[in-house]
Amino acid sequence: MASDSPTDQPQPLPEVDLKTFIAQMPKAELHVHLEGCLTPVLARSLASRNNLPPPSSLSHLEPSHPEAGYAFNDLTSFLQIYYPNLAVLVTAEDFSDLALSYLRTAHAQNVKHVELFFDPQAHTSRGIPFPTVVRGYRHGVITAQRTLGISASLIMCFLRDHSAEYAMSTLMESLPFKDSIIGVGLDSDERDNPPSKFASVFQRAAREGYLLTMHCDIDQPNILTHIGQAINEIQVDRIDHGTNIIESPELVDTIKTRGIGLTCCPISNSVVTADFKGREIVSLLRQGVKVTINSDDPAYFRGYVNENLLKLAEGTDVTKKELIQLQRNAFMISWISSWRRSHFLHMLDEYEQKALSLVEERRPLANGI
Ligand code: HPA
Ligand code: ZN
Repeated sequence: MASDSPTDQPQPLPEVDLKTFIAQMPKAELHVHLEGCLTPVLARSLASRNNLPPPSSLSHLEPSHPEAGYAFNDLTSFLQIYYPNLAVLVTAEDFSDLALSYLRTAHAQNVKHVELFFDPQAHTSRGIPFPTVVRGYRHGVITAQRTLGISASLIMCFLRDHSAEYAMSTLMESLPFKDSIIGVGLDSDERDNPPSKFASVFQRAAREGYLLTMHCDIDQPNILTHIGQAINEIQVDRIDHGTNIIESPELVDTIKTRGIGLTCCPISNSVVTADFKGREIVSLLRQGVKVTINSDDPAYFRGYVNENLLKLAEGTDVTKKELIQLQRNAFMISWISSWRRSHFLHMLDEYEQKALSLVEERRPLANGI
């Protein structure tokens, strides 16, 4: 006679389709730009609250079709609408609302922890004071933590198509807010703006206690040189995108040895290049690199983390076990305390046991019996 399962054993879940399997999995997101979370609906509503005209990037959209998206087809045309749209963000309340609106969606997707990029220079360069930006975002993060239970930290990115001096002065401006910012990153247009341009800024940031990450965008000119600089000269803790590393077995070995993870974004890859790089992402995962799946700019690329995982799952032969490993990687390389890391990893172990035990039981035996 079958005995009752011990109460401390996770009970198996009914076998579910891929979409539900992804939706129910506990997740972390490590590569999402707050400014890239400005949906057309939110942009319109903030413009109206601030007595501003709606951004011109919305002029082709019908307000009665709020699900319609921004129009662009590569990184340059994306950045050309991305920065002007930010004019609707004026007060600390606007920044708070932007953070909250993303965190509500992430929470609804069962994301437990997020590390959020923000671009202070995209605001200070148009006259918004640095403290307004950080206080607003921090308020949104704290409100989400308190009301939803989702945890989030802020990563301050420098715009690499501006000068190293401007990045350094932004770094200095951030120091009174060090308690609210966990690390620094580097984004915007990578062409002719290599990591080494910002070596002294990142060196100073590390001395101030910030953790370090930076974008090494997909298929950029000299990308392996950029990745090499990020790893060896800047000594980054993580790399954002960085998928081209697959072309250098030596660099792959280095990041494996040092435990440097990659934050990959399949849907954004598919928009800014000809390919979503699923094959490369899965190959790196199978080589033991700590790759993770993220949404980048979900309001623009029109996919949050679940949709990005689904894109990978539907476009490659990645297994459910590997989808869980991608989340394990995210918690492993996230900038959280070891206590919280253990807590989230335990949650994933439980999910794996509950969600995959049935799949294992039903797998046909090799001899066909
Ligand atoms: N690439 C570079 N910079 C960015 C991006 C991106 O996808 N999103 C926001 N800033
Ligand atoms: Zn990015």
